[in-house]
Amino acid sequence: MLVPDGRVIMISGASRGIGQSIGKLLAERGYKLSLGVRDPKAINAADYSDDTLVARWDATDAKTSDDWVARTNEHFGRIDGIVMNAGIDIVTNLAEAADEDYEALWQVNFMGPLRLMRAVMPSLRASGHGRAINIVSMAGKRLMDGSMLGYSASKFAALSLTHATRHEGWSDGVRATAICPGLVDTQMIAGLDAPPNQFKIDPEVIAQTVDYALSLPENAAVAEILVNSRLESIF
Ligand SMILES: NC(=O)c1ccc[n+]([C@@H]2O[C@H](COP(=O)([O-])OP(=O)(O)OC[C@H]3O[C@@H](n4cnc5c(N)ncnc54)[C@H](OP(=O)(O)O)[C@@H]3O)[C@@H](O)[C@H]2O)c1
Repeated sequence: MLVPDGRVIMISGASRGIGQSIGKLLAERGYKLSLGVRDPKAINAADYSDDTLVARWDATDAKTSDDWVARTNEHFGRIDGIVMNAGIDIVTNLAEAADEDYEALWQVNFMGPLRLMRAVMPSLRASGHGRAINIVSMAGKRLMDGSMLGYSASKFAALSLTHATRHEGWSDGVRATAICPGLVDTQMIAGLDAPPNQFKIDPEVIAQTVDYALSLPENAAVAEILVNSRLESIF
């Protein structure tokens, strides 16, 4: 798992939950970090080295994607990878959910990562070993119940973004990986007890998975990593 060599990684949604765990672990591993968050005050500076960049990034504010990438390039002079982690979940039943709920899920879970990938791709190509990690979900692989219609739709789209990135960046050494967890023990599902046949995965485990994906060489390209929280007879 040797790698840092001055590598610069951007992480969206590092304020809490999975993104916070990813930030802490990658900082310990020696990566140089650029953290994109809605509220920079949410970052605990003590967790990071002095040259960590904290930038305002809001998935629903298109301009902030270009700004965050530009600031990262100005600060570090290079970008070697991005972890697109920020996301939201809204219960969306076919019969009841409002159009605004679907729109919000689409903006945060798909348009935000899409704009970031567009903005950062030239830098990843230039690095010669760019890495794009997308925290998708098992809900981006299959739909477990009707209340997840909008969330799953946005995550299926996020999975397709990962695969498009693989195709677009392949010849320049860019490798993209979708990490697809089941239930993870964060605020997002705080009100949900794990059903008897399931457990909640520690966010630190997803951080370890990101670290692993970032460490793989170009000739060991892993497109998807499924992290199940229940036994499933798929894939
Ligand atoms: N928890 C699970 O069971 C689970 C399972 C599979 C996949 N995932 C995925 O894992 C990722 C992280 O989720 P989590 O469990 O860590 O959830 P979380 O604790 O609710 O954290 C969500 C993160 O996304 C950020 N965010 C929300 N809306 C944003 C916006 N408009 N612009 C920028 N950032 C925004 C939040 O920032 P603020 O602090 O500013 O709100 C926060 O940092 C998400 O993509 C989620 O879909 C989660």
